[in-house]
Amino acid sequence: MKIAIIGSGTMGSGIAQVAATAGCTVKVYDTSQQALEMSKVALEKVLSRLVEKGRIDDAEKNRIQNSISYVENLKELSNADLTIEAIIENTEIKQKVFAELESYLSDEAIIASNTSSLSIASLAASLKKPERFIGIHFFNPAPLMPLVEIIPAIQTSEEVKNKVVQIIEDWKKIGVLAKDTPGFIVNRVARPFYGEALRIYEEGIADFATIDLAMKEIGGFRMGPFELMDFIGNDVNYTVTETVFTAFYFDPRYKPAFTQKRFAEAGYLGRKSGRGYYNYAENATNPEPNRDQKLGHEIVERILVMLINEAADALFLNIASAKDIDLAMTKGVNYPKGLLAWANEKSIDWCVEKMDALYDEYREDRYRSSPLLRKMRRESKIF
Ligand SMILES: NC(=O)c1ccc[n+]([C@@H]2O[C@H](COP(=O)([O-])OP(=O)(O)OC[C@H]3O[C@@H](n4cnc5c(N)ncnc54)[C@H](O)[C@@H]3O)[C@@H](O)[C@H]2O)c1
Repeated sequence: MKIAIIGSGTMGSGIAQVAATAGCTVKVYDTSQQALEMSKVALEKVLSRLVEKGRIDDAEKNRIQNSISYVENLKELSNADLTIEAIIENTEIKQKVFAELESYLSDEAIIASNTSSLSIASLAASLKKPERFIGIHFFNPAPLMPLVEIIPAIQTSEEVKNKVVQIIEDWKKIGVLAKDTPGFIVNRVARPFYGEALRIYEEGIADFATIDLAMKEIGGFRMGPFELMDFIGNDVNYTVTETVFTAFYFDPRYKPAFTQKRFAEAGYLGRKSGRGYYNYAENATNPEPNRDQKLGHEIVERILVMLINEAADALFLNIASAKDIDLAMTKGVNYPKGLLAWANEKSIDWCVEKMDALYDEYREDRYRSSPLLRKMRRESKIF
């Protein structure tokens, strides 16, 4: 199968590696020659490390490298069966590239975008044959993260959707189907992991280190919310939150936090700038967490129930199946359990009561319980 990748940055390079590893012939195009060069160098490094670790042999390394070529002209992608675009996150620029690309491709070729936040329907609309367009959303780093969200637009044909589901399976990835709505599954359902942690901090209930420790030691998450925001970058994470908030017509559930905005404005971006919620300078001292168990449980339960509520609401609104929502959070962002399975474990009664207690306390729409949780409690059902 012939694959074309547009954009040889972080994501494009990773996706090219995945496709070539699976046996496809890959052409990578970028407007920047430097980006193409860097992509080639990065691949050499990654594959050499895999050889050192004994995961692949030299022959396999050569095979993967020889399957990828780097091109400087969009026209050279003309024989691709599937093109995946991973360029700058801007609707107009992407639309322009798709319109030009389509003029070179065969009628059967599929075109996909790796966009994290743009509407797939709006991108498909730039094509003469919008039914050939679909969202294929990988997670960073693409070669390591098993999850891929597959997002058909309302224009996408059933045939294109089915072909892409098969391709992702052939590439040994876990594909989940998501509706074309802001944040798809993962970037929607994960919002409270950051948002509720920031809210708990803003209310003065606990500091960053205490919240992080509780989420790891009691919640079982690999990283605490503040460590993770520092890792992702406060600028990047803030922008995703603001984009989702705006795209949901300002639903208060997704409201960004001033704390994160100020950290981003101050240049406290996290690891990449040496300082975020924590100080990453050598010999820096960071605050000691409060290890009080009662406080720790309160923190975890509040963030967890908000995550469960979001997952339940995504199911309520048919964003994805229950199975795919749980797979998305465990395989895309390494949650220790699927949120709907977690809801069953805690009991649906517990979820509704906890949400209602928050709502009674704050009287904010942010804390409204999903109608699905309420209905399930009424009917004594579980997920
Ligand atoms: N970084 C992530 O964690 C992540 C995860 C999932 C999805 N995404 C999405 O993937 C896409 C790419 O993200 P990234 O982090 O790899 O970006 P990046 O900045 O690392 O790479 C983008 C590349 O696109 C090239 N480019 C820009 N305009 C171009 C054009 N008109 N034609 C050809 N090439 C062009 C740039 O030269 C650059 O090399 C975005 O849509 C982003 O939302 C990113």
